[in-house]
Amino acid sequence: MRVHHAHPYNAEPPPAVLAEQVITPVDAFYVRDHAAVPAVDLGAWRLTVDGLVERELELSLADLRTGFPERTVVATLQCAGNRRAGLLGVRDIPGEDPWGPGATSTAVWSGTGLADVLTRAGLRAGAAHIAFQGCDVSMEVSPPQPYGGSVPLAKAVAPEVLLAWEMNGEPLPPVHGAPLRVVVPGWIGARSVKWLTRITALAEPSGNYYQAIAYRMLPAVPGPDPDGIPLGPVPLNSAILRPGDGDRLAPGPTEVAGYAYTGGGRAVARVEVSLDGGTTWQRADLGSPAGPWAWRHWRATARLPAGETTIAVRAWDDAAATQPESPRSVWNPKGYANTSWHRVTVTCRE
Ligand code: MTE
Repeated sequence: MRVHHAHPYNAEPPPAVLAEQVITPVDAFYVRDHAAVPAVDLGAWRLTVDGLVERELELSLADLRTGFPERTVVATLQCAGNRRAGLLGVRDIPGEDPWGPGATSTAVWSGTGLADVLTRAGLRAGAAHIAFQGCDVSMEVSPPQPYGGSVPLAKAVAPEVLLAWEMNGEPLPPVHGAPLRVVVPGWIGARSVKWLTRITALAEPSGNYYQAIAYRMLPAVPGPDPDGIPLGPVPLNSAILRPGDGDRLAPGPTEVAGYAYTGGGRAVARVEVSLDGGTTWQRADLGSPAGPWAWRHWRATARLPAGETTIAVRAWDDAAATQPESPRSVWNPKGYANTSWHRVTVTCRE
């Protein structure tokens, strides 16, 4: 793993590792933590469901496992800061980690549907947002605060949203949120709250720092909207995972491989690679879909000339939207959602 921070732990796999399998092995799955991994006493652990509900619930892991139907979803998680490194050449982003294209990974998640638990609690009139709280306490906030966030009710009750206790068929590991985490497929990873202890039905979005202040798209130039746009569905993106930036290769046919992903219920429709700065594009082959909430791996054979070549990739979605060419056009003060064409530069010598 490429470790951006040891405490709290923040790390991404080398890009080529993500290209190997559509389902990312647990030990290669990126980790994004805002606080130390909490020590959870599994015997004492309970999930509280409260707020605008008819019946408050206190559920043990056994209650969840035996009292609700089990569901499985293949879902990609993607951090809002994925590919931030590509924005740093435009302007510096102080205090934020320079994530490469590896702040995203895909797993098979099993648990129960959040909708089933909310149905058991019974939502009261006025419930419009579902807030999640973890038991890790973030020192990034003054005063320190447990990590949290929320999603609007319509997404919270969608069948793909899970309270997950399993990842790739194994018990959820501590670093990924054991014993229970939320998985909100198609939304920025920040909403998939780990070490979950409380679910609260609210009339308004959560006031937690990571919902109300962080994870917002601020304008490049501070203006009339200093609060920014709260980030939710993941916008269309793609990246080259192989070859790596700076690789030295033999000239001739080279396999270029990567991922494309879009959240919010849209689908990746096409991926293209350019060797000439976007004048011409070659279509990549999309790998078979692992499910509507998973990334698509893609491959293309590129005929690289001798010397230096910059390979660029862009994806298109099913609304015929595509990615912007330049990081300059999407630069923002926190470095979120770098959706610009991803590029790697390689050198070919006999
Ligand atoms: N949940 C808690 N409790 N604490 C956190 O710091 N980080 C969030 C989210 N859930 C976080 C959290 C962010 S920003 C992301 S991108 C994902 O978890 C990362 O999940 P992973 O570490 O399992 O890849």
